[in-house]
Amino acid sequence: MPTREITTKPYPDQKFGTAGLRKKVAVFQQPHYLENLLQAVFDCVPELRGKTLVIGGDGRFHNRAAIQTAIAMAAANGVTKVIVGQGGIVSTPAVSHLIRLNGAAGGFVFSASHNPAGPDGDFGVKFNIANGGQAGETTTDRIFARTKEIAAYRLSDGAKIDLDRRGLSRLDDCEVEVIDGVADYAALMQKLFDFDRMKDWLKRGGRVCFDAMHAVTGPYAQRIFVDLLNAPADSVLNATPLEDFGGGHPDPNLIYAKHLVDLSNSAQSPELLAASDGDGDRNMILGAGVFISPGDSLAMLAAHLHKLPGYKGGIAGIARSMPTCRAADVVATHLKVPCFETPTGWKFFCNLLDADRITICGEESFGTGSTHVREKDGLWAVLAWLNVLAVTGKTMLELATAHWAQHGRHYYQRHDYDELPTEKAQAVMEGLKAQFATLPGQTLGQWTVSSADEFAYDDPIDGSRATAQGLRVVFGDAARLIVRLSGTGTKGATVRVYFERYEQAPALLAMTTRDALNPLVAIAEKLLRLTELTGRKGPDVVT
Ligand code: G1P
Ligand code: ZN
Repeated sequence: MPTREITTKPYPDQKFGTAGLRKKVAVFQQPHYLENLLQAVFDCVPELRGKTLVIGGDGRFHNRAAIQTAIAMAAANGVTKVIVGQGGIVSTPAVSHLIRLNGAAGGFVFSASHNPAGPDGDFGVKFNIANGGQAGETTTDRIFARTKEIAAYRLSDGAKIDLDRRGLSRLDDCEVEVIDGVADYAALMQKLFDFDRMKDWLKRGGRVCFDAMHAVTGPYAQRIFVDLLNAPADSVLNATPLEDFGGGHPDPNLIYAKHLVDLSNSAQSPELLAASDGDGDRNMILGAGVFISPGDSLAMLAAHLHKLPGYKGGIAGIARSMPTCRAADVVATHLKVPCFETPTGWKFFCNLLDADRITICGEESFGTGSTHVREKDGLWAVLAWLNVLAVTGKTMLELATAHWAQHGRHYYQRHDYDELPTEKAQAVMEGLKAQFATLPGQTLGQWTVSSADEFAYDDPIDGSRATAQGLRVVFGDAARLIVRLSGTGTKGATVRVYFERYEQAPALLAMTTRDALNPLVAIAEKLLRLTELTGRKGPDVVT
């Protein structure tokens, strides 16, 4: 079949970043829109030529059409092998694994993560490179620049690939293999975790409830929990990926997965409750009667990881993003391993993972991961917890309580002020910065400020420096107040305020998060003048 070269005109709005590009489906459906973007990637990443490319998506509306286009363009751009998930379904962490497993030069993930899906929802394209992680800023900047001058794209005229039938076919000089998108990932999990112990735990009556929220993790959870671990079928909720995610919002947090919170507080609660997001990289973890905050989850998993088969040599180090609570630091000190504090975003972890400086890493935004892939991995975190339950024989509440008794407890919350006019968001940031010089030494409520600064990060691996990564007001080990602007919002500016309070006294380990943080929230209101400067009565989202 001949390859066609099709003339096109640039779209000005294809700002491709490390997290890819997310837009409304209707935007992606414009003539040549997706093709322009993909051609820009092929033009800027010549390493794909003569190599393998992995393609998958989270199953949302437009996924199948986009995959057909990507295959036809890959063939026309000299890719020699395409590996694509059956039905177009591959989670973000599974794409990362497939790239590494097959020595591929890169991979496309069609997803807008947790953004709502369907004809009126969002669509997205992400591009990962040979190490399995997201393409860096230098590459994504080049891709964006290329979209602004694109004049033609190449496409194979060959027949469409049957995405539902596993097996090999050819498109021009390109071999296309439709694979079971779950199998290799499940095999990786079987290497990392003790499936016999987990099976036994379930057989003895341990119960798990995992909500796939009608997004990509359904088939993965079904295979792993039900088929491989023999958990009852009703252990996985909403397991069928739907093009509109069932009209839901697959963002696993206290708002969008509130039904799990309610279940965990009921008498019928299973021992472990969890959810993942649209593309499978985020996770939320609850136990019967207890919510494990992402920062606690990172710290507690780090403390137990050496008990699991894939990590029995112990851990090299831990990394957390700057706004994530410092519970991980306490564990790192205890284990005598380094703890890295990085800017928000997974890419900073990838350098440390590639250099074997860390084994586990995580963010407060429900992201946890390890050396096994170069993306955060929702199901990995759930299985790690399940394996910890199985080897310790303890409940989640017992594990959390014991952890806090030994290491102290970090109470934690994030408040988001969404879609603010940019000037208002800037005013909040500038208002706090203006007080930096006078804050150290000041006593506010029960705490004294030890330092106030804007976070910058010197990457210990590649020597690069990231500046303006958020404002920190630190009260020694006792508390922190962090403010930063979201880098992922699509409308206006989002201010995120993070509250952290550390207590070690036994009498102070069982407060509610709200009671514990109220005094800090009052201090923040004074320092940041949020009500006055944003015009809002309170945050839009509290997680
Ligand atoms: C948000 C999260 C951040 C995460 C990113 C991509 O970014 O806060 O931890 O890495 O989404 O999932 P933000 O909008 O805060 O810049
Ligand atoms: Zn995601």
